[in-house]
Amino acid sequence: MSLFEGAGVALVTPMKENGEVNYEKLGEIVEMQINGGSDAIIVCGTTGEASTLTHEEHLECIKAVVDFTAKRIPVIAGTGSNCTSTAVYLSTEAYKRGADGLLVVSPYYNKATQNGLKKHFLTIAGSVSIPVILYNIKGRTGVNINAKTIAELAKEAGNIVGVKEACGDISQVADIMYYSHGELDLYSGNDDQIVPVMSLGGKGVISVLSNILPDVTHDIAAKYLAGDVAGSCILMHGCNGKMGQVITHLAAEDENVTIAVGVDAYDGIVNDYPVFSSLSDCNIDADVIIDFSNAQAVDGLLDYAVESKTPVVLCTTGLSEEQLDKVEAASKHVAILRSANMSIGINVILKLLRDAVSRFAPEGFDVEIVEKHHNQKLDAPSGTAIALADAMNDEMNGMYEYVYDRSQVRQKRDKKELGISAVRGGNIVGEHDVIFAGTDEVITISHSAHSKAIFAKGAIAAAKYLAGRTPGLYDMSDVMS
Ligand SMILES: NC(=O)c1ccc[n+]([C@@H]2O[C@H](COP(=O)([O-])OP(=O)(O)OC[C@H]3O[C@@H](n4cnc5c(N)ncnc54)[C@H](O)[C@@H]3O)[C@@H](O)[C@H]2O)c1
Repeated sequence: MSLFEGAGVALVTPMKENGEVNYEKLGEIVEMQINGGSDAIIVCGTTGEASTLTHEEHLECIKAVVDFTAKRIPVIAGTGSNCTSTAVYLSTEAYKRGADGLLVVSPYYNKATQNGLKKHFLTIAGSVSIPVILYNIKGRTGVNINAKTIAELAKEAGNIVGVKEACGDISQVADIMYYSHGELDLYSGNDDQIVPVMSLGGKGVISVLSNILPDVTHDIAAKYLAGDVAGSCILMHGCNGKMGQVITHLAAEDENVTIAVGVDAYDGIVNDYPVFSSLSDCNIDADVIIDFSNAQAVDGLLDYAVESKTPVVLCTTGLSEEQLDKVEAASKHVAILRSANMSIGINVILKLLRDAVSRFAPEGFDVEIVEKHHNQKLDAPSGTAIALADAMNDEMNGMYEYVYDRSQVRQKRDKKELGISAVRGGNIVGEHDVIFAGTDEVITISHSAHSKAIFAKGAIAAAKYLAGRTPGLYDMSDVMS
């Protein structure tokens, strides 16, 4: 059985201003890690400043973390040294203090041969009965433990059960799995290689990122282990707006998506994910962007999406003709899904209307759209009303002229008119009536939105669909089909 699967945190060691270990803070961060979903704690690794702690501090930290953790998740103690006997001392003492396993880095500075490395690790592993994970990081230690050596060590010492691989070389990772017949627990030592290493049979990551984002790192590994390789990391643009907040709450309940980062000019809301005030400050990558901001923000968003090659679910309405052209141009470089209304209901109606208009128009029916929205809405008519009109006009080969205002007109209605009227008031979420008015009969197709969740659900479904897609312009009909 593995020591752990998923994301183990390479825990920092908090210090006071005078350089002493801050044990109170250490307790707090252990609690934060367990609550955040970390699957193991690695205490006194390189990130934990082990190389600058005294041996007393080193062992006291291990004991403190074992006590704070209280067996809720495994505690793995960093006990490596370039001096074999020092590593044996730290390992046996960590074992006595209750560590569940050890992380042993390759001896640095000495430039040991592969045979020398084997003797070093076998001596340490032989001094304890708990599992040992090797730590290979040539960039820091100056020596690489070869894939064959790692496999031989695992074979010769029953308790060398895993390797934290931070060489950055994916071919070596594949070789380790090959030579060890996939029987070694492999962990990525680099936060930017979690999924690549897991795709070669890795069990997870020993992560520095987990110190600040334990939940996000846990989710990346957990989703991979659960077979959800399409689980999407979202950048929520406009995260502190009304729609951004509805999506934030729905995404928190959806195991298949994670909001990795938010961007909003307004900073008055605290979210469970980091939030930047502008895209230019944002330094966290995502698989897909969901945008509910405002029209002025869309130009910058499109530039960011093209540059970072991140697909966008573009939900903001009220875009100008120039902006729509810019959307089209950007879609040559990155996948963009634009829909003025993300609700599944409206998108089914869009299909129905094509059929309806092709039957009613030749029979002389007039077509009118009446839309109603809350009194805070900026644009009119609604993007949805225009999308409904566009679907029908497209079906009728562009025969309609849209009429938004009849107050100055003194003439009978032309058959080519398609009237669109907007009502604004109260907190109406969104209502659309498409009226086919014929002689002696009127057919009305109505849609009422009772909460913003219908748009949010559609946007999340669209984000799952769009992540990883090739450049192009998509819409909700692609998601539904
Ligand atoms: N397509 C759909 O289904 C659908 C549904 C509902 C709303 N909408 C549209 O989505 C947009 C947002 O709606 P809302 O109700 O959430 O509005 P909102 O005003 O509550 O939220 C917009 C958020 O965007 C932020 N913002 C504005 N400019 C920004 C910038 N340059 N950078 C970063 N953040 C910025 C604001 O601070 C605000 O928090 C509107 O255009 C609305 O019409 C579309």
